[in-house]
Amino acid sequence: MSASVITVETQEDLSHKLIIQQPPVGLSLKGSIRVPGDKSISHRALMLGALAQGETEIEGLLLGEDPRSTASCFQALGAEISELNTELVRVKGIGLGNLLEPVDVLNAGNSGTTLRLMLGILASHPGRFFTVTGDGSLRSRPMSRVVKPLQQMGAQIWGRQNNSLAPLAITGQALKPTHYHSPIASAQVKSCILLAGLLTEGKTTVTEPALSRDHSERMLRAFGADLTTDPETNSVTIIGPAQLYGQKVVVPGDISSAAFWLVAGAIVPGSNLLIENVGVNPSRTGILEALSLMGADVQLENQREVAGEPVADLRVRYSRLKSCTIAGDIIPRLIDEIPILAVAAVFAEGTTVIKDAEELRVKESDRIAVMAQQLNKMGAKVTELPDGMEITGGTPLVGTDVDSHTDHRIAMSLAIAALVASGITSIHRAEAAAISYPNFTATLQQVCQ
Ligand code: S3P
Repeated sequence: MSASVITVETQEDLSHKLIIQQPPVGLSLKGSIRVPGDKSISHRALMLGALAQGETEIEGLLLGEDPRSTASCFQALGAEISELNTELVRVKGIGLGNLLEPVDVLNAGNSGTTLRLMLGILASHPGRFFTVTGDGSLRSRPMSRVVKPLQQMGAQIWGRQNNSLAPLAITGQALKPTHYHSPIASAQVKSCILLAGLLTEGKTTVTEPALSRDHSERMLRAFGADLTTDPETNSVTIIGPAQLYGQKVVVPGDISSAAFWLVAGAIVPGSNLLIENVGVNPSRTGILEALSLMGADVQLENQREVAGEPVADLRVRYSRLKSCTIAGDIIPRLIDEIPILAVAAVFAEGTTVIKDAEELRVKESDRIAVMAQQLNKMGAKVTELPDGMEITGGTPLVGTDVDSHTDHRIAMSLAIAALVASGITSIHRAEAAAISYPNFTATLQQVCQ
């Protein structure tokens, strides 16, 4: 397949249409690629760097729009952050408790992680007033999941619909410690409360129903916080007030971005693709387990540990997939990969069932509804469930016009589906990919050559 069958057209409203045409001869994905830095780790490195004393050096930062939102918010709060690049970003911290009162609204853009984690930090900085907002998608996403536990700690936060929607106004307070039993397994909720616990005198504990990603715990410890975990009960405790000290952070490639290539390699006949330098933290590797259940051929090579996070190169080869059931405690460990797993299921024999994933309805878009609609437009058999999807594989996909609904992971999942659809697929509003994967189209053209 030549790169010319993957093209981008800029529309009148400046959105991008990504056009993928089925090649006349068989396509197979070959070679080795790298994916951009992990989004979750990038946000946390910028935030902890900003709160620490001294300088933090970040290697491999994701240059997507979401971490850029975090960087600009924390610059407005007083941190000095050098020009963003993947080689080395330097953050001169302001020290815990020393945030400035910004002169304008803090804008988290499309990023739920920026807004929810930042709320814990702002609410615990006494004597300052802050206002925070985001884009249309973020302003419709539920904030009560972090506002309520913060209020339980004494936080003062106001917003629309009973303080549950951004824009939000916050008057920072000295907070009281709490033990919060979260009804959802969410790293954003857990991290928000732990960050609020940094300046709060005493023990702040979060217990979650299943383990969500633990990057905050690892990085808070590395920066000097007194933090303990109890894996038996999925609880984390932080003792405040803490002092954080600038560190060197090396950000591994994002397994959530690698997931697009893992599925592409698994469904495009003849593929043999190496994805180098991918973070394989066990709280994120649900995708590898799900693909293995589906019979995909994925090997971990060169496993190592880099700056406190496990890393490996992932090799994927084409194989015939079979259906499986994805439900329960694995869901938080692959929550962001469900749109692309739905694409894998379209090419698997039998009916794949995804359950216990109602959280997908409140992501950057309603990912259950949008994936079902868009894949069905291409001829797939996807039925929405309240908390997931039922996908019957084996029907060939036919190219047509589809839409990302401005959701980065939907844009990229549809692009991978288009590689195996006949005819021409046009993905509208494909520029959304830049939220987490700025060079996605270039890499797609590279692996399809
Ligand atoms: C993230 C946590 C997850 C995930 C999001 C990033 C994080 O959200 O979906 O993309 O960095 O903490 P929830 O914690 O709301 O599940």
